[in-house]
Amino acid sequence: MNPVLTADNMLLAALKLGLVLAAISGCCMQPATPPQSDTDREQELPQRIYGLLDKMSCGRKLNASATFALLLAEFLIKQKLRYVAPTRFERQLYYHLLHRMEHIKSRSVEAAATGIERQILESAFKRNVLLLPPSVRYGQLNANGEYEQLAAIYGNVVNEGQPNRTQSDLCMREIVERDLSDCKLASHECLELLTSDAPTYGYQRTHQVLLLYMLQHHVCAPHLSPPQVYELLAKSHCNEVEREQNAIRSLGLPEQYRDLYLEQATICGLFGYNEFLNWRNVMEIGSWFEDEAHDVDKSHDSQHINDLALVFYINAMLLLH
Ligand SMILES: *[C@@H]1O[C@H](CO)[C@@H](O)[C@H](O)[C@H]1NC(C)=O
Ligand SMILES: *[C@@H]1O[C@H](CO)[C@@H](O)[C@H](O)[C@H]1NC(C)=O
Repeated sequence: MNPVLTADNMLLAALKLGLVLAAISGCCMQPATPPQSDTDREQELPQRIYGLLDKMSCGRKLNASATFALLLAEFLIKQKLRYVAPTRFERQLYYHLLHRMEHIKSRSVEAAATGIERQILESAFKRNVLLLPPSVRYGQLNANGEYEQLAAIYGNVVNEGQPNRTQSDLCMREIVERDLSDCKLASHECLELLTSDAPTYGYQRTHQVLLLYMLQHHVCAPHLSPPQVYELLAKSHCNEVEREQNAIRSLGLPEQYRDLYLEQATICGLFGYNEFLNWRNVMEIGSWFEDEAHDVDKSHDSQHINDLALVFYINAMLLLH
């Protein structure tokens, strides 16, 4: 027997997997235990992604963060398809995922979204997007950033810096509502938030990086700055995020920082930095869901983690081979 999996066999396996998951875990079931052997790696991420989508489709209303995650995840798949010809297996998988995500979005009622969030969701990653070739970047970040002192004071600084939530939403709306007829950002403040190298930590820092990513992938980006500027800013911000991740890890990755840790890994992972986008993090995050499967109380608090994990896993599926 030929041990090599042909594309057709893999396609068949993927379809079966899809059907089995659809049949047994239509609603509110935990994803099946991920396969352990190395040869099953190819299946592992799709399986986890389907598990997360099952949870999302479980009747809950999607709030702004879940809808945003779906929009971003779809964008990542479309961007990959634009630049890299998929194998037959990948094509089937990607289109199936896109279909599932559209379906979940279409059934959701965005009742929870406030005015400004709704405005963001109407445009983000849908209108005026600039697709850029995705790739993993190895060893570009500073591996020697000091983190032990940071770890010692992390709890005191984690809420410091800019943009705060309000500033971040306003700036995000400003970015997504631009179009080519008028590329200038209305406020200087928004641009300043993106480029500032003032100390900022935690979610303030991740929001800064996310805003930068959104601006970089906007059709107006080339009119505002040369591409190298976005790259340099991303690198400098993500160097700081890496220091924070090292600090959190040196504290033993306590549960209170899991959500933040995943947000950091997801957002700097969007730029392809392998310090964030790697199998170690895939496994680490997977282990949290196994914890959760044994603790029903916890699963109530984990919606935001699910939303982030969806984006992280999809990006990993697209870029890690
Ligand atoms: C969405 O819901 C989750 C879980 O209920 C919550 O943690 C998160 O803050 C909400 N996000 C937004 C933007 O409302
Ligand atoms: C966010 O920061 C701005 C500018 O520093 C400030 O005016 C505003 O009160 C802050 N909002 C919150 C919710 O902290």
